[in-house]
Amino acid sequence: MANVLIAGCGYVGTALGTRLASEGHVVWGLRRRPDALPPNIGPLVADLTVPETLQALPPGLDVVFYTAAADAPDDEAYRAAYVEGLHNLLRALDHQRQVLRRVFFTSSTGVYAQASGAWVDETSPTEPPEFSGIRVFEGERLLLGSRFPGTVLRLGGIYGPGRTRLIDRVRRGLAVCPEGPPLYTNRIHRDDCAGALHHLMNVDQPDQIYLGVDHEPAEQCEVLRWLAARLGVSLPGVEPPSGSEVRRHQSNKRCSNAKLIASGYTFRYPSFRDGYSALLAQGGA
Ligand SMILES: NC(=O)c1ccc[n+]([C@@H]2O[C@H](COP(=O)([O-])OP(=O)(O)OC[C@H]3O[C@@H](n4cnc5c(N)ncnc54)[C@H](OP(=O)(O)O)[C@@H]3O)[C@@H](O)[C@H]2O)c1
Repeated sequence: MANVLIAGCGYVGTALGTRLASEGHVVWGLRRRPDALPPNIGPLVADLTVPETLQALPPGLDVVFYTAAADAPDDEAYRAAYVEGLHNLLRALDHQRQVLRRVFFTSSTGVYAQASGAWVDETSPTEPPEFSGIRVFEGERLLLGSRFPGTVLRLGGIYGPGRTRLIDRVRRGLAVCPEGPPLYTNRIHRDDCAGALHHLMNVDQPDQIYLGVDHEPAEQCEVLRWLAARLGVSLPGVEPPSGSEVRRHQSNKRCSNAKLIASGYTFRYPSFRDGYSALLAQGGA
């Protein structure tokens, strides 16, 4: 059994921690407001951006997951969450002479700039076009350049219980299909985020970088239409892209999960149909 620290133990971290704790691992969840943590995750109140709060980490840690997310959609918040916070934690672990098997970092498919719907994998060029991808990529470099063995999981858009914005928009008739060439989206259910991290923790000598997306990069419009049909509401109209959609067109790619699959991971929700069907059936949306 392992001593596990989940730094930034929120939506994905809690699902992961619950799974690990049920197997008998000792799990600590680090965050600023730990009230929402379930009883099987030991609360650790700390702020990753305040080094003094990281001075008394649990001794004898084996594995660390860094799953913190930015508080706001701006460069300062991204730098704090993915660069400063990670730097502070790695330094604290180093000062405390922790001998870790591995540190895992949840990155994002936002590190890719590909905009023409091309397939990308872990070897594809990373030239993040926006501050978000730039900061997350900086975090990746920081971890992989540290003295700790590190693995990065580049996640697509996360959905799952309580994260049903797309379903809500379709249900309320607010979703529109952007006019123009196909716009591919890459997603992963929360339980597969936790599942893939759990799996990688058990892989002997995992590689440094994996993409964490389901099997099916899906056209945005196909997803919206499928949801509308399932919900029995009118199909979304087609409109010229505006605002956030224009930005999304600047990052239009199909992410491959082949490497994660080859490492032995089996998806619980291989496509958006599986994941959204389960959510709708569970009444979670
Ligand atoms: N959402 C997506 O679609 C998506 C896509 C790609 C990658 N990712 C990445 O996947 C990972 C997991 O996402 P998620 O949705 O599970 O994240 P989340 O729940 O939104 O946030 C994780 C936790 O980080 C904690 N946190 C933030 N700043 C902190 C700080 N300074 N000190 C201590 N804790 C801090 C927050 O808890 P407190 O507020 O209590 O501190 C929060 O519960 C993140 O790294 C995220 O960037 C997400």
